[in-house]
Order: sequence, then C-alpha cells, then structure tokens
Amino acid sequence: MDRIAIRGGNRLFGDLPISGAKNSAIKLMAAALLSDQPLTLTNMPKLSDTRFLAALLESLGVEIGNGSDVMRLHAREITSTFAPYDRVRKMRATFNVLGPLLARRGEAKVSLPGGCTIGARPVDLHLMALEAMGVQIALEEGYVLARARDGLKGADVSFPFVSVGATEHALLAATLASGTTVLRNAAREPEIGDLAHCLNAMGARVSGIDTDTLVIEGVTSLRGTEWAVIPDRIETGTYALAAAMAGGEVTLTGTRAGLNDALIGKMREAGVEVDEGADTLRVRRGEARLRPVDVDTEVFPGFATDLQAQFMALMTVADGESVIREHIFENRFMHAPELARLGADIAVHGGEARVRGVEALRGAEVMATDLRASVSLVIAGLVAEGETTIGRVYHLDRGFERLEAKLSGCGADIRRLTGPESSGEDDGH
Ligand code: UD1
Repeated sequence: MDRIAIRGGNRLFGDLPISGAKNSAIKLMAAALLSDQPLTLTNMPKLSDTRFLAALLESLGVEIGNGSDVMRLHAREITSTFAPYDRVRKMRATFNVLGPLLARRGEAKVSLPGGCTIGARPVDLHLMALEAMGVQIALEEGYVLARARDGLKGADVSFPFVSVGATEHALLAATLASGTTVLRNAAREPEIGDLAHCLNAMGARVSGIDTDTLVIEGVTSLRGTEWAVIPDRIETGTYALAAAMAGGEVTLTGTRAGLNDALIGKMREAGVEVDEGADTLRVRRGEARLRPVDVDTEVFPGFATDLQAQFMALMTVADGESVIREHIFENRFMHAPELARLGADIAVHGGEARVRGVEALRGAEVMATDLRASVSLVIAGLVAEGETTIGRVYHLDRGFERLEAKLSGCGADIRRLTGPESSGEDDGH
C-alpha cells in the first residue's frame, strides 16, 4: 500500500495548477447516460473516483474514450440497467446512475451505497424525489429495484433538508420527465450549477440555477455537447490552506473567483493574505503566528464541510483556541486523533472540536481515514518537525490529482513511497 512521506519546514513558493472538480465531474459523467449522443467533458481531473465511475458506466453500455484531460462518453445504447454492489460500494455518487437509467430505460436495479465512515448518509431523499416522480421502488437484499413503466413524471418536490446528492439526482431524472418538476430547498453548490448548465447545453430546460428552487421542464431527448468541468473549489481551498500553513507565497491558477468566499473570509481573519483574481488565488503568509478563528460548516455558500479537516489542521498551530463545529455530517472528526499524533491539542465533544493551538507539530506515522481528512494530515505534515508518513493514501488518490507533484513543485519535501496495491475502502466523498 502506498504511503506519503513529508519532511516539514519548507515554505512554499510558486504557481500551483488547479484541476477540474471531482464532485462535478462525476455528476456530469452520469449525465452522459441521458443522451444517445456523445458528451465530451474537458478539464477532467484524473482520479481513482472518475476511473471507478467510468468502469461502472462502461458496464452499462457507455463507450468511453480518454484524452489527457478529456473524457468522451457515448451512451448510444444502454445495454444493462444493473449496477452491482461491487461497482457501487466504493463511491456513493455512483448511486446517481439510478435516475438516468430510469429515464432512459424505465427500470433499474442499483445497489445501495455501502457503509461509510462519516455518518449514516442514507439515500432516503433520493428515493423520495424519485417516488414523487412516479417511480415504484422496492428494496431487496441491499438493492433498489425501481420501475417507471410509463416514464418519469414531473413533480413538486420539497426536500426536508438540503442534500447535494439528492438535488443532483432529482435534477438528472427530471430532465427527461414528462411535465415540469420543481425542486424546493435544493442545494446550491456550484457543482449543481455546473451540472444544470451542462444539461441545458444538452437541450434540457432547467431554470432557477444557483437558487434554492430549481424548475425543470421535461424534454423528450437530450443531445450531445462538449463541456468544461468547473475548477475544483475544494482542491483550491485545500492548497490555499496548505500555503497558509507552510508560509511563503503561492498562486493557485486555473481556479475561479467566487467559489471559496467563506473560506477566504476565515483565512483573512486568521491573518493570511489572500488576493482573488478572475481565475487565480494568491495566498501569502509571513512569519507571524496565525490568529485562532471559529468555523461552522454550512451548506453553500457557507463554509464547506469538505474543508473542515484542512482548516482544523491550520488551527492546530494558531496562537490560541478555536472552535470548529460540523453541521453537515455526524462523525466527521476522525482526523482529530490523527492530528493529535502530530502533537495537536484537540478536544472533540459531539459535533464540536476545540483546538488549542500549539507552537509546533512533530512528525509521526499517521493514517488517512477519508478523503478530506487525509489531506489535513498532509497540511499538518508540511510544518511538523521531522518526518510524517501517511498511510492509506488511496483515500487521497480518490480526490487529489498529482498531489505530491503539485506540492513539491512549490518546494514542499513530499514523496510517495510505493507499496503493493490495496483494494481501498472508501466513504464516497
Ligand atoms: C456531497 C459531496 C461531499 C460533500 C457533501 C456536502 C459529492 C460526490 N459529494 O455529498 O463531498 O461533503 O455533498 O457538501 O458531491 N442525507 C440524508 N438522506 C439523503 C441524502 C443525504 O439523510 O437521502 C444526509 C447526509 O447523511 C448528510 C446530509 O444529508 O448528513 C448532507 O448530505 P448530502 O448533501 O447529500 O451530501 P452528498 O451528496 O453525499
């Protein structure tokens, strides 16, 4: 199993390129199922998650071609409507093929996403929306058996709370439903806007994009298009925090303004200099210690839960105590005990973590527990004295393209120690 070794202490300088957003790419890939014409995605990140979903889509009949950062998906004919457990369990977002399969073929059998490490994460809201659209659903031995004999029907769906996955899933299905669908209390994450705009380029009629009410007028078919995946705001935020942690001056390129406002505000409060350009983010920090800053995770445009672990890493060396509250997922502080192995002082009570800043972290062997948690250990390792080695880095490979190359390109002492392959259990982020 691969590990990552980091020798802390180097400041970071230079440009660091941002890839396309994983969380957008995987929804856009599912959208390819909705048309019998090819969907060409550019600015595609190269990640184990996109490869995993590509394998599932191929098993359903989608022809897939890959270029350097291009993926062409052609669902000329859906040859199977069965998504087995083995092709779903590693990644929760694979569940989103259910709606498109129903829209194209009127039936599907899709495994429930497997257990995961950050809370219960059920799919009840996904199923609620599909049922409202006339889908008959039965649960049998870990599988969802779904049928929409007369096609999907437009519906008025009010989500009891905001879910990114359920919003996207219902949006995908509604594009080919007969009549109009209204999704209320919809999530507004930029990746949903990216998906909706791409669907419109394919001939869908989605309005209310970037608001909490999406209106989708169903059409009978969608066409192919070419679409550039939105920059990854979580990768952007992660490297912004890495630069803040290590000190120095780093310019993130190929990103987009307005995706990380909540984070940038918190970083400035902590004493980090951040300048946003149209597609760049420059992060600068001198020698002074950081100020402690409290953070509450919220749905977009609030502070992203996917940046909570990384921000906590930064706060471990701040000059005082900060409080970090997690409101999106239960049990999303698994990184806290690992950060403590590096000398951090963190007390977790339920959904709240109190972080008392220490003067210095010390390198140690630690273990990645999920995708975003693992990169918080990388950030901590950048300043920990001596060497930090991180195990189970398959978590990182799910969501961060060429992480070591990007960081070492800015002067970090980071390298991969390769070991035998592992099957990798995942949490679906
Ligand atoms: C997506 C992102 C993930 C991010 C999260 C919140 C992808 C692939 N993943 O995950 O990186 O952390 O949004 O921004 O895009 N819930 C239910 N029932 C449901 C659906 C969700 O109870 O049917 C709960 C979840 O357990 C969780 C909360 O709702 O507590 C939010 O989950 P959701 O917004 O759906 O997150 P994901 O789409 O899984």
